[in-house]
Amino acid sequence: MKIKIPLGAALLIGLTSYGADTIPSPAAALTPTITVEAGKLNGNVSPLLYGLMTEEINHCYDGGLYAELVQNRAFLDDPKSPVHWSAASPNRASTTIQLDEKQALNSALPVSLRLDAPSASKTQPAGIANDGYWGIPVYSETTYRASFYAKAAPGFTGKINVSIQSQDGATVYAQGEAGEGTQEGWKRYEVVLHTGKVGANIKGRYVLSIQQPGTVWFSLVSLFPPTWKDRPNGLRKDLMQMLVDMKPQFLRFPGGNYLEGDTVKDRFDWKKTLGPISGRSGHPGPWHYRSTDGMGLMEFLTWCEDMQAEPLLAVYAGYSFKEKVDPGPALEPFVQEALEEIEYVTGPVTSKWGAQRAKDGHPAPFKLHYVEIGNEDFFDKSGSYNGRFTQISNAIKKKYPQLQCISTVGLDQSEKLRVRDTKPDAIDEHYYRSTDEFVKTSPDYYEKYRRTGPKVFVGEWAAHEDAKIRPWQKGALQQPVIPNMKAALGDAAFMAAMERNSDLVVMQCYAPLFANVNPGAWQWRPNLIGYDALRAYGAPSYYAIAMFSRNLGNEILKITSKDTPVQASATRDGKTREIFLKLVNPQPTEQAVSIQLKGIASVAPTASSITLAANPEETNTLDEPTKVAPKNSTVSGIKNTFEYTVPANGIVVLKLQASL
Ligand code: AHR
Repeated sequence: MKIKIPLGAALLIGLTSYGADTIPSPAAALTPTITVEAGKLNGNVSPLLYGLMTEEINHCYDGGLYAELVQNRAFLDDPKSPVHWSAASPNRASTTIQLDEKQALNSALPVSLRLDAPSASKTQPAGIANDGYWGIPVYSETTYRASFYAKAAPGFTGKINVSIQSQDGATVYAQGEAGEGTQEGWKRYEVVLHTGKVGANIKGRYVLSIQQPGTVWFSLVSLFPPTWKDRPNGLRKDLMQMLVDMKPQFLRFPGGNYLEGDTVKDRFDWKKTLGPISGRSGHPGPWHYRSTDGMGLMEFLTWCEDMQAEPLLAVYAGYSFKEKVDPGPALEPFVQEALEEIEYVTGPVTSKWGAQRAKDGHPAPFKLHYVEIGNEDFFDKSGSYNGRFTQISNAIKKKYPQLQCISTVGLDQSEKLRVRDTKPDAIDEHYYRSTDEFVKTSPDYYEKYRRTGPKVFVGEWAAHEDAKIRPWQKGALQQPVIPNMKAALGDAAFMAAMERNSDLVVMQCYAPLFANVNPGAWQWRPNLIGYDALRAYGAPSYYAIAMFSRNLGNEILKITSKDTPVQASATRDGKTREIFLKLVNPQPTEQAVSIQLKGIASVAPTASSITLAANPEETNTLDEPTKVAPKNSTVSGIKNTFEYTVPANGIVVLKLQASL
């Protein structure tokens, strides 16, 4: 039920819930006011303010954005058993599958899957079946690209049947054949599969089978549905659409902890992620599962290109969770590795790594302005980051003076852990805070930062609902993987703060971005976008971020709030003069405010608005993906001073057309 609050009483409710100890007398006639001083610019909105951050966590790439459907496609996930694979045969007793290190495709994929099917026949085919990333999605009237390597023991002359079928094998949704007279040496096969009209479901399995007795080895067994822009080895279309809809300006990759790994050997070793996927071993990730490295450096870069966003490249800086490289000569190979990586991204085709990029299919250099050195190096309590950052940053600046280097130790960390021997261009600060904390601190958080220091990059942030359960604590895994409206309110309060200060906060990105919502698939909450193999949905926070990022402009207008719990930000498009006024009401009651627009001659009498409002505990799910979603409407009665009521638990973008 909505309760209308008289203007004068609004503060009482607002302050009470902030825990203030002085409660003003209701007799005092307070007028909650938000004043936008359109004649006073607080600087320019950073053109890169809204971006995305990703890493391999929560099956974000494998089993997520990376559209590969086969889990454990190279049989490296478990050295002891072919997990996610089973024998597919009505005659199971005589059909066996096993890992075979003696028959490897190459040194990158040092194990294959051996199928022994002594009694396979046309009526009793025998094969290998994969259960996918929590199911193989069956789409209606869709073309899939299947591929695999196979070789047969002498005597086998048959074909390999490739199919997408129901988990019990009773229904075949799509099938094809490959490999007439399958050879004794490794050969790559490709098959195109088409499904007919079918109710979309995730109850599929992927089967490769034979219809005559024999022994066949398989390697790199892959299956892709249609991908974004039809790129081979590409990305899932529905997830990409959701990202593009957020209008991100940059992508921070590859991490996060995923950049560092548990050990130096398990860092994101970018050189091993280039070229054909048959040459990529993958590696153990820090989030307790192995990465295929199907998402390699080139895939990250083309992903940026496909979103019209620029890469924000994080380079390994000698710090992994269980190991560390000291600054000085020991770090030098990693300095070179970082320089070469930058050359791969930006160098001319005449350079060694620029030529490699061209060979990998992209002769044109990518745009790059920012390089982040490491990730969360404040965990290195030895204080060696000062030396490691300085060494890497000096080398980058020498070769690429135009690049901006970001330190991963911000002003939110203790002084002794910060970089002292050189001045970082920007510092990365991470904020995983409860909604109550964000609501409390956001009104003046970045207003207090001095403007003479490095710029700020908020490279990870997200509100969680309960301050007693932090995202990294065990209890978090008992909570819903996708946060609710309460979290969106904290997120929006913090975003308004970052926008008001985007002369200083030049970039920011929520983290983590993605989670496969299946039990066991995720390691962290809250996350912005949830999915299973077939469907995806955004948290209320997803919509809040898209609302903010899509309505931004380029000028920061001075804004002040008085006697209201509503938090706000105002920006303007300098060309069209459209003002984007963002209002965040974290209170359980609607809040009336007097909005004063100063420094403009007039404003159009109607404005369009986008509103996201819901009970704090409400959220979206796979079954109700847009239960909490923004609504567009038109607001009339707009004048230089007008009253507006912000809905309870509400986030609003008002688009005001002003003229000077
Ligand atoms: O976003 C999840 C993790 O939080 C990141 O990997 C790490 O950088 C941070 O601690």
